[in-house]
Amino acid sequence: MTNFEPFAMERMMSKWEYAVDYNLSESGVHPITMRELVRDPAVIESLLDTELNYAQANGFADLRERIAALYPGATPEHVLVTVGCIEANFIALQTLLQPGDEIAVMLPNYMQIWGQAHNLGLQRRAFHLRAKRGWAPDLDELEAVVSPRTRLIAVCNPNNPTGRILTPDEMDAIVAASERSGAWLLADEVYTGAERLAEAATPSFWGRCERVLAMGSLSKAYGLPGLRLGWVVGPVDTIDALWARHEYLTLSATMLANKLATIALSPEVRPRLLERGRRYIRQGYAILQDWLEGNEGLFELVPPQAAAIAFPRYHLPINSTELVTRLMREKSVFVVPGDHFGLDGYLRISFGLPEVYLRAGLERIQDLLETLQK
Ligand SMILES: Cc1ncc(COP(=O)(O)O)c(C=O)c1O
Repeated sequence: MTNFEPFAMERMMSKWEYAVDYNLSESGVHPITMRELVRDPAVIESLLDTELNYAQANGFADLRERIAALYPGATPEHVLVTVGCIEANFIALQTLLQPGDEIAVMLPNYMQIWGQAHNLGLQRRAFHLRAKRGWAPDLDELEAVVSPRTRLIAVCNPNNPTGRILTPDEMDAIVAASERSGAWLLADEVYTGAERLAEAATPSFWGRCERVLAMGSLSKAYGLPGLRLGWVVGPVDTIDALWARHEYLTLSATMLANKLATIALSPEVRPRLLERGRRYIRQGYAILQDWLEGNEGLFELVPPQAAAIAFPRYHLPINSTELVTRLMREKSVFVVPGDHFGLDGYLRISFGLPEVYLRAGLERIQDLLETLQK
């Protein structure tokens, strides 16, 4: 057995997100209320009559149909509904890989797959997004680390924490690497729909090669993290194999989550939620950008193309975990240290938040920065 590697970012978030006055650590847009989500009185009535039974274990058929409709060529049989994308990622590694197998992970990334790979006894290789190239992936490094031994390539697109969206050529290069090596391609696409600049949703890796799993979720662009509702889209037999692990782990997403997710992805509601998310992202980014510019010389940022987070580098002689710990203890504000992505000297700051809250949180950060600069 390998030594257990905890999920450093989620450990810190679990302990602090509800303990501070200003939580600027989330990566999705500000959560929506039930009232905002469900407006039709007849639907509210029918929800009150819901039997709180086990839900269909692989997800309501209607819900899987709505998810499948987002992926050209997919049918409900290509979809497994999970308890968040975090479950989808977990059971995918558990299903497809054996201890000792080699995987290649695009870094930085939400570090779940990186940590879990270690915990499953996998051999980890990395290829990096490079800050100097506007967080473009290092395709030479991809070429160097992917070989016939590679069993899975994991990418996150749009990326957490940088907000970078892969170009069509970069996507092609990743698909080619997976086809050349015979490796599975695991594409965590939870930030699709949370584009800041583009109007169109980020294209999926689904359909670009045979051995691909596309992960999605309602947690980020839709503002529904508390539903704990995610999914994986993949080849039918692989989806069935994942479902068999899902039965051991969570059995099903809840009945209410299935119902509310079906509403969220309906043709009437989905556009409204995505529009709301983009509004938060675009307005929030303008506030953050002003604030960063007001701190001239202190920060360097490659503007994020998607997600409700920015990942600036700061020029202060203090370790990122130490800086965040001081922010939490002295100013009751929480952002994510770059250390959690293996990049000290950076902070991940959320901006998809109500204006007053965001401005007040940034002001508290400002207070500490001024003290540190004295
Ligand atoms: C890239 C990525 N994947 C998965 C997750 C977990 O998402 P969910 O809430 O759907 O479990 C996160 C959450 O931050 C994430 O950033």
